[in-house]
Amino acid sequence: EHIKLSFEKTLNFVSKEEIFKFKEESQKHLTALQKGTGKGNDYVGWVDLPSQITEEELNDIEATALSLKEKVEVLVVIGIGGSYLGAKAVNDALAHSFDQLNTGDENPLVLYAGQNISEDYLFELLDILKDLDFGICVISKSGTTTEPAISFRLLKELLEENVGKEEARERIIAITDASKGALRTLAVQEGYKTFVIPDDVGGRFSVLTPVGLLPIAVAGHDIKELVKGAKSMQEYSSATAFEENPALLYAATRNALYAKGKGIEILANYNPKLHYVAEWWKQLYGESEGKENKGIFPASVDFTSDLHSMGQYIQEGQRTIFETVISIAKPNHTVTIPKDKDNLDGLNFLAGRRIDAVNKMAELGTQLAHVDGGVPNLRIEMPQLNEFYLGELIYFFEIACGVSGYILDVNPFDQPGVEAYKSNMFALLEKPGFEEETKKIKEKL
Ligand code: PA5
Repeated sequence: EHIKLSFEKTLNFVSKEEIFKFKEESQKHLTALQKGTGKGNDYVGWVDLPSQITEEELNDIEATALSLKEKVEVLVVIGIGGSYLGAKAVNDALAHSFDQLNTGDENPLVLYAGQNISEDYLFELLDILKDLDFGICVISKSGTTTEPAISFRLLKELLEENVGKEEARERIIAITDASKGALRTLAVQEGYKTFVIPDDVGGRFSVLTPVGLLPIAVAGHDIKELVKGAKSMQEYSSATAFEENPALLYAATRNALYAKGKGIEILANYNPKLHYVAEWWKQLYGESEGKENKGIFPASVDFTSDLHSMGQYIQEGQRTIFETVISIAKPNHTVTIPKDKDNLDGLNFLAGRRIDAVNKMAELGTQLAHVDGGVPNLRIEMPQLNEFYLGELIYFFEIACGVSGYILDVNPFDQPGVEAYKSNMFALLEKPGFEEETKKIKEKL
């Protein structure tokens, strides 16, 4: 069984011919990704990651996770963008919803830093960490990103103060480029255990490297199953004809909708554990496709919560959106609605039924309403929320993203636009080397 894609509920808006028109092109793009012959081909190392990663590499990650688990009750993962969202997405999807309380989980609590520059966030993080046994996993491909560098400087200092420099060394893991960047230099100098982010894998495609796998293993999840799921989707998407191929059909359908003026895609879930899967997906698609004045704008909602807020817009606002729903077929737990003798809330008609049965009818009712309201709907069904199907989902979205970006005729693997804010920030902060930019920007203020 694999994750499934249905596009039938888009067919009031685009014809099957308009979707299938991309058949040959998408197959050609898939081959270009696999052979490394398309745009940005220096960065397609992720295509083969699931089948290339060795048992030995996975064992090394697991062994490192185990030694950290023995030492620390909290692991702070420091990173931003692609060096953060994949781990956060998988860990949140698999964690107990209330694991910040004591839920009996013996694995360290994974916290995150370096994904913002909020003084209050960092103050409060340092404040709780001063009394805890913690470790640090610092992740940066370039090794020079400002946000994680600031957080690392603060947390390293606190850790060394708490446990001494020697022990701190044992509790810090660095994941970075094999040879370049300030973080590599620091790691070598301090003698930290390190993992390498391969040169040909960009940040947003790096969740199946140690970048994602180490924090996921520390949180107690089965990284071998995750990789197995990704490999299953790698093989399936490579061997399956367009008509049945979820990744190619997803890439084709969203481009057919885009051609019809649907410029916004909303990824919707009915399980809040998927909130960060959507954040990861937004980076993947937004950063890969949003360039050269083109691209579908990726947005996300958590249903049914957001049906009570954004639901209004989706139902009746500008008709420029389509929706992709991730639905989990089978929940991991069972809760039934109790009977109440007074029935003052009028809910006895649901007594004895599963909560998930109500959730599924909310989903179906919403899909029908949104389609009637002019919002085409795609639906991705995951059989269950576990490591294996998350692995499938990750690979499905990645490979579809590569194909979709090629259909759009952009280089899906660069991100020139993210430099603009950095250069302004450095100019404003008067970073050495930015004297010209500082002068120019001051004139604008
Ligand atoms: O996808 C990307 O390339 C970016 O989001 C990066 O992952 C992000 O900017 C962090 O970069 P680095 O890992 O070099 O610190």
